[in-house]
Amino acid sequence: MTHAKINDIRDRLIVALDVPTVWDAYRIVSDLGDGATFYKIGYRLAFAGGLDLARQLVTEGKQVFLDLKLHDIGNTVTEGVESLTKLGVTFLTVHAYPQTMRGAVEGRGDAKLKLLAVTALTSYDDTDLRDAGYSLAVRDLVRLRAEQARTTGIDGIVCSAAETEIVRDVIGPDMLIVTPGIRPSGSAAGDQKRTLTPGEAIRAGADHLVVGRPVIRAADPRAAAAAIMDEIAAAS
Ligand code: C5P
Repeated sequence: MTHAKINDIRDRLIVALDVPTVWDAYRIVSDLGDGATFYKIGYRLAFAGGLDLARQLVTEGKQVFLDLKLHDIGNTVTEGVESLTKLGVTFLTVHAYPQTMRGAVEGRGDAKLKLLAVTALTSYDDTDLRDAGYSLAVRDLVRLRAEQARTTGIDGIVCSAAETEIVRDVIGPDMLIVTPGIRPSGSAAGDQKRTLTPGEAIRAGADHLVVGRPVIRAADPRAAAAAIMDEIAAAS
């Protein structure tokens, strides 16, 4: 199975370590063994020892997606990203404001870290954007920012599974699309509203899928990850 941007098909599944402690995270990583190669660490874990965990996972040969959604004045973003390049992680998120993205690209320099931009938070609808002072509808803001990410030198976009086709249309084939909001057929949607199955998301143009609860809360996480991997392989 070949993919122009990803060598090992297992890397297409990113398991979200949405747990409160490093201990909980390690238990998941050890349950999954070589059944998962890529992990996402968000605020909750990052602020509870997760940055050291990230470094440790990298030394154990895993890839790490740090979902920190950085946003500040350009210079501060540059300096923050420079520090994060030392961790050896693979992906880092920043908000898709042009100045923030330029700062991040400068801070990344020639490190191997890939920068992913968050166009519009998926919890926002048109009313939330108006409340925040924006005149664009969500769909138009997503398009504008995806285009700006492309011209700024960002490596990929994080978007909901349901937005994958629109985003792919804007950014073309070379940039990465990383998408949460995935639910294998038959699993509970939880608080996710517009979900796609792994196969649907891959066919819509996603490169990597972020999956949390359907794997980490499964009775058998390894089997759950393997089933998702099979769906990814079948759709690739
Ligand atoms: O458990 P679940 O599969 O819903 O987890 C999805 C992960 O992706 C969580 O870490 C969540 O914070 C993240 N995420 C999301 N929707 C977005 C952006 C990120 O669910 N729009």
